[in-house]
Amino acid sequence: MKVSVSTITISELDVDLLFIPISKEVIEGGLEDLAEAFGPCVEKARGDIRGDGSNATVLYPEKGTAKRIVLVGLGESGKISFEKLRLAAAKGATVAYDVKAETVGIAIPSLDLDGDDTAQALVEGFVLGSYRFTKYRTNAQPGESAQRLVIQTTDQDKQVRRGADRGRIIAEAVCTARDLVNVSPDEKTPVLLSKAIEKTGKKSGFEVSVWDKALIEEEGMGGLLAVNRGSIEPPTFSVLEWRPENARNSRPIILVGKGVTFDTGGLSLKPTKGSMDSMKCDMAGAAAVVGAMEAIAKLEMPLYVIGLIPATDNRPGENAYVPGDVVKMHSGKTVEVLNTDAEGRMILADALSYASSFYPEQVIELSTLTGAAVVALGDFVAAIMTNAEEGSEERLSEMVAAGSESGDRVHPLPMFDEYNEQLKSTVADLKNVGGREGGAITAAKFLEHFVDYPWIHVDIAGPAFWDSGKGYSQAGGTGFGVRLVTRYLQQISEKKR
Ligand code: BES
Ligand code: MN
Ligand code: ZN
Repeated sequence: MKVSVSTITISELDVDLLFIPISKEVIEGGLEDLAEAFGPCVEKARGDIRGDGSNATVLYPEKGTAKRIVLVGLGESGKISFEKLRLAAAKGATVAYDVKAETVGIAIPSLDLDGDDTAQALVEGFVLGSYRFTKYRTNAQPGESAQRLVIQTTDQDKQVRRGADRGRIIAEAVCTARDLVNVSPDEKTPVLLSKAIEKTGKKSGFEVSVWDKALIEEEGMGGLLAVNRGSIEPPTFSVLEWRPENARNSRPIILVGKGVTFDTGGLSLKPTKGSMDSMKCDMAGAAAVVGAMEAIAKLEMPLYVIGLIPATDNRPGENAYVPGDVVKMHSGKTVEVLNTDAEGRMILADALSYASSFYPEQVIELSTLTGAAVVALGDFVAAIMTNAEEGSEERLSEMVAAGSESGDRVHPLPMFDEYNEQLKSTVADLKNVGGREGGAITAAKFLEHFVDYPWIHVDIAGPAFWDSGKGYSQAGGTGFGVRLVTRYLQQISEKKR
């Protein structure tokens, strides 16, 4: 979608649809300005427009150049949040999609929020709400989603433009992640996933190098190789790098993403319904890392950031790893496998111990790791956990803040040492499962054995993939994590100014 900014007056904006978000107070104030610009239809519709944003009112104006106008309430002006703006814009996007509007305008309201943040949130909501995954639809018509978006503002300075650009870049990066998750599993084997990562790197300006199976063996990534044993597709390990000259950190910030391209459970096979049937989403952590790297590079963020993506599918092939196998991990520790469906932690542990060789400032790891995280928090919030390094409380609260501002919400779970009891093995250093109780936490405690730097674990099993759409996400991959990480890194780069 092309996004531009215009200071032309709203009555002269020549678009198929003009989306006008308005606060409750403006509605109650009588909408005289809008009536003057667009004609008596505005007056007639006034009673239909709900101030809280629970509906969208479509009008065909008697005056002005816009073919249609869509009014959506934003609630009381003092309580308008970025999320309300995104949700309102997504309502506008739904109408635009239904009427096949090619060109859409958004009238930026003047609110208590900064103009650039308002523009960013509205563009994000609109672009995300316009996303449709049509790759496999043989009846898909090109141009069903809006092609051109014009941001209308009365503000002459560059603020709104900056915000609109930021919103577009971030939302497009989220769509990159959604596409990677939504694609058919047979089209995203580890090798094909790595190719897609290289393509995104070229397009957005970060470097990518891909390790093949031989190199993974040489490095001794025993966890990744063990999970891969039941598959006929070789594993890959992708290393993504964004290192601008003006980086404000010398030691990198590392993003690690779980890249299980399909999780059958392995020999500990999953049932199909409500379980294995959505497991093409098990590389959503990897997709979030790729999307975040795209956003970071396109925003030219002054930070040195590395992405690490271990990728394999998890299958019960002839040579599959079995319960009872003891695996020597990249770190040298040994793990007794007692459930082959706890594969995510096996491949992540290797990536996390490899991350150590960069002496990272901190590591953020995103993974669709446990059903237990979904049981604990539901499907719209990710669980975050961190190790007890200096500044851990602060890291968690900064991540929570990044979550609520970006719309990718997160909530912390504890990491008490008692949980380690559940991971004791009778034959090896650790076992790979800790039982049902506190399952999201014991998974994180397992990973903690492989980190020696500040680390935040984000379990995105709930919010990464939805069976039905809501808000600005359709059914399927949501792209969760891209906005969270981008926002978090923006905070860090501001702090280092
Ligand atoms: N990929 C799954 C976790 C998952 C569940 C992701 C639901 C998305 C939605 C993971 O590999 C898994 O199978 N975890 C097991 C762990 C158990 C065997 C200890 C689980 O959660 O049941
Ligand atoms: Mn699994
Ligand atoms: Zn998995």
